[in-house]
Amino acid sequence: MTKTVKKAVFPVAGLGTRFLPATKASPKEMLPVVDKPLIQYAVEEAVAAGIEVMVFVTGRNKTAISNHFDTAYELEHELEIRGKERLLNVVRGIVPAHVSCVFLRQSMPLGLGHAVLCAQPVIGNEPFAVVLADDLIDDGERGCLKQMVEVFSSTGATILGTQIVDPHETGSYGIVDTEDEGDLVEVKGIVEKPAPELAPSNHGVVGRYILTSAIFQHLAQTGKGAGGEIQLTDGIASLMQEESVMAYAFKGRRYDCGSKLGYLQATVDYALKHEHLGDEFTNWLRERFIR
Ligand code: G1P
Repeated sequence: MTKTVKKAVFPVAGLGTRFLPATKASPKEMLPVVDKPLIQYAVEEAVAAGIEVMVFVTGRNKTAISNHFDTAYELEHELEIRGKERLLNVVRGIVPAHVSCVFLRQSMPLGLGHAVLCAQPVIGNEPFAVVLADDLIDDGERGCLKQMVEVFSSTGATILGTQIVDPHETGSYGIVDTEDEGDLVEVKGIVEKPAPELAPSNHGVVGRYILTSAIFQHLAQTGKGAGGEIQLTDGIASLMQEESVMAYAFKGRRYDCGSKLGYLQATVDYALKHEHLGDEFTNWLRERFIR
């Protein structure tokens, strides 16, 4: 089996109810952090990890995502005649030429596990990444997915990106059960969104996975789990009976942009370090809060 990861799946069919009414007519993955939509950060992280095929599993009301990664002739033409060179490069550079984008529809909202299963015809027998765009991760340099792809190239085992989560918040995550200590540990079990008293640890899976294609046969047999949905976590729990699964505590800060608080924290941090806006915004914050 190859240990090179060239394809990534972006499940983007969710309704984004936590951001209504902003997400009534436009996808939550298109919410901008400063000036870039969340899905673009996710794709850039995948490009930095060497991924060449981006597979978006979409649903209703998600055409803005395919438009974002397509050529915008009229816009490019306008920017060209107005001599807006920098913006033209920004618009043209959204996906590098060697990267292809594939769009699939998840016709029923049956859960994350089902969304990943929808990508099987495009993934085939290769290992692949799954990236949840509402987990924005900043590691300051190579990117979380690149760290994970590197770990996979030496282990060849399924890798789950994990982080220590607040013990009261285990009900928001897939929680892993492990006896080992360190950044890269063997996973003995995994539970989707357990109540704190039932959680096997406080190591939560955040939205980054490198999976072997063996996951598909497990997902195909996974029934409804937490929240009445087909859960990726349950498919991984089943895969674990057959293959080794590792948890990797990646380096970097993760913002939960699926929540308003996490989204605002990301907005402030990314604005503070923004190349054109950072200094002005820092001064403004200082004046506003430090007297
Ligand atoms: C999903 C997964 C969960 C994981 C989380 C990370 O849940 O089901 O296991 O810990 O993403 O963000 P969601 O946040 O989509 O409800």
